[in-house]
Amino acid sequence: MKIEDFEIIKLETVDSTNDYLKRLVKKGESKPKIVISDIQTNGKGTKNRSFVSEKGGIYLSILLPYFDASFITPMTAVAVSDTIDKFATEKTKIKWVNDIYLKNKKVCGILCESVYSDFCDKPFIIVGIGINLFKPEKDFAAKIKNIAISIFDYEDKAVKERFVSLLINNFLFYFNGLDKKTFLEKYRNNNLVIGKRVKVFYDNKEREGIAVEVDSECRLKVKFSESEEKLLSSGDVILKK
Ligand code: BTN
Repeated sequence: MKIEDFEIIKLETVDSTNDYLKRLVKKGESKPKIVISDIQTNGKGTKNRSFVSEKGGIYLSILLPYFDASFITPMTAVAVSDTIDKFATEKTKIKWVNDIYLKNKKVCGILCESVYSDFCDKPFIIVGIGINLFKPEKDFAAKIKNIAISIFDYEDKAVKERFVSLLINNFLFYFNGLDKKTFLEKYRNNNLVIGKRVKVFYDNKEREGIAVEVDSECRLKVKFSESEEKLLSSGDVILKK
């Protein structure tokens, strides 16, 4: 796909850019779209959490017609990570599975969802990306202040335009190579959790182990003991000190 295939919608404020696209799909819209908002009043994170979305961030969602989206989250993480690396003073790391970290703090979260409509028998895919580009005017909200970081301290419209443009280019570059998994090497080699002690949550269990590697299917291999390890396809990971 190329940028000309997308309708681009710019908003000042919206509840959630993912939900905005879902509503369009439900109404029968099918053309690929990119929606970007300065603020979200009801930003959504994974696991039904909220995503603080103050002015200063980039809140962007991409609507794509159906495809096998198994690797869309790791692929998007690599596209975002590449983009931030062109602007930030330090290199980012990807925290399996869908967060980007800069200087050991979260700078971006990704939420991919599928949505059905009455007008099409296959679901559409929505890729939602939230990036702390600039620090909010009054700093981050108390609940994320210690864990969040922005790329820049002060807002600059020209920087934002260049950033969004490169982000979309990088996304399309890796999206067009998704069948060949062109994102994979970077995803495997640039993961924050590898070699670290982690607490993982899966199948309603909470366990501690060492994150050993990300495999070619983007699963996280966690070793619990000499004789027991598990490949996780999804789940939550907390880094232990
Ligand atoms: C997470 O960190 O748990 C994922 C956060 C994803 C946030 C983005 S911002 C754009 C899009 N719209 C939303 O409501 N969520 C995603």
